[in-house]
Amino acid sequence: EKSGYDHYMLKEIHEQPTALRQCLRGRIDELGGTVDLAELAAIDHDGPVQFVACGTSYHAAMFGAERLRSGGVRAQAFLASEYGIDRVPVDEGTLVVGVTQSGETADTLRALREADRAGATTLAVTNTVGSSAARECDHALYIRAGPEIGVAATKTFASQQLALALLAFELGDGPTRGELEALRDIPGQVQTVLETTTARAVAEAFVDADAYFFVGRGYHYPVALEGALKMKEITYRHAEGFASGELKHGPLALVTETTPVFAIVTGDGETARKTIGNVKEVEARDAPVVAITDGESDVTRYADYVLEIPAVDDISASVLANVQLQLVAYWVANLLGRSIDKPRNLAKSVTVE
Ligand code: M6R
Repeated sequence: EKSGYDHYMLKEIHEQPTALRQCLRGRIDELGGTVDLAELAAIDHDGPVQFVACGTSYHAAMFGAERLRSGGVRAQAFLASEYGIDRVPVDEGTLVVGVTQSGETADTLRALREADRAGATTLAVTNTVGSSAARECDHALYIRAGPEIGVAATKTFASQQLALALLAFELGDGPTRGELEALRDIPGQVQTVLETTTARAVAEAFVDADAYFFVGRGYHYPVALEGALKMKEITYRHAEGFASGELKHGPLALVTETTPVFAIVTGDGETARKTIGNVKEVEARDAPVVAITDGESDVTRYADYVLEIPAVDDISASVLANVQLQLVAYWVANLLGRSIDKPRNLAKSVTVE
C-alpha cells in the first residue's frame, strides 16, 4: 500500500510530480497559448473573488489570492472560520471560492452556504468528486491529486497551488507562452527537488531545536506558514511562520542560537533583497539560517545550510520550496519517532465548526 515508503506522507510527497501532471492534463494548450478549464466554461465572472478555506488549504488560498491579484483580479483570502457576510461585502457580483481538499470541512461549507444565501456565485476547488462542497457549489474545479491518506496535507497543497494558478488565467489576464511553459515544467522541477534534496541532513542538524521559524515574502509567505504548520502538526514542536518583514516587529525577540530560521529566498529582485535584509538581522542574533534558495542571490553567504531548488519564477519556486519544507518536517518527525500519518489530536477531515 505504501509502495515501500515507511509512511503515507513520504509516499504522497513523492507522488507530487504525478499529481501535478494529472492536475495539468488537458488543461493547458501550449500551441494555442490558452488554459482550458472545461468545468468552468460556464463561469463568466469579472467581479471580486473571495477565497474561504482552513489550515493548509487556507495557505493555498492565500497563494491563489496573490496569484489572481497579479492577474488583475480583486481577490482576498479568508479563514473560513472567520468569514461572515456580516463582516465582508458579498453580493451577486462576488465569486466565493472554497478551497477544500476533502470538500467536507464544516467551517468552509458554512462559509460557502452563507455566501450562497447572499447571492454570490460559489466554486469548490476540491480533490473529492461528489463531496459536499462539490455538490453544493455552483461550480467545481478538481485538483486531481489522487487520494491522500496522511493527515498532513502534502500533494494536495501543491495541486491546489497549480489549480489556482490555472484559475488565475481563467479569471484574469490570460497566460503568456512563457507562463504556460513555466506551469508545464513544475512537475519535472519537483522531481528534481525530490532527487537532490538534502532535507534529511538539515533535519538531523536541527532535530533538537527549541523552535523552528519560517519566513518568506510575497508568494513565499503562505509557504512559510505552511512550512510551520507541517512542522508543528507532525513533530509536536513549536514552529511559526512569519512574513519576513514582520520579524522585526516582535518575533525577533524569540530568535536565539537554538531556533533555526528557514528563509525562502528566490531570484535576485526586490523581494529577495528585502528578505535577505531580514536574514541578516537573524544571523546577527546567532540563529542558524537555512536558506531555501535557487542560488540566484547572495543569501547563501548568510546561511548555515542551503536547500536548493531550480532557478525559476517566484510562483513555481513557491511550489518547489514547499516540497523542501515538507521533507524537513517529515525527517524531523521521523527522527523523533512520531506518529507521522496520524498525528495526535488531529483528523483528516474536520466536520465540526
Ligand atoms: O479538507 P480541507 O482542505 O478543507 O481541510 C482543511 C484543513 O483541515 C487541512 O488543510 C489541514 O490543515 C491539513 N490536513 C494539515 O496538514
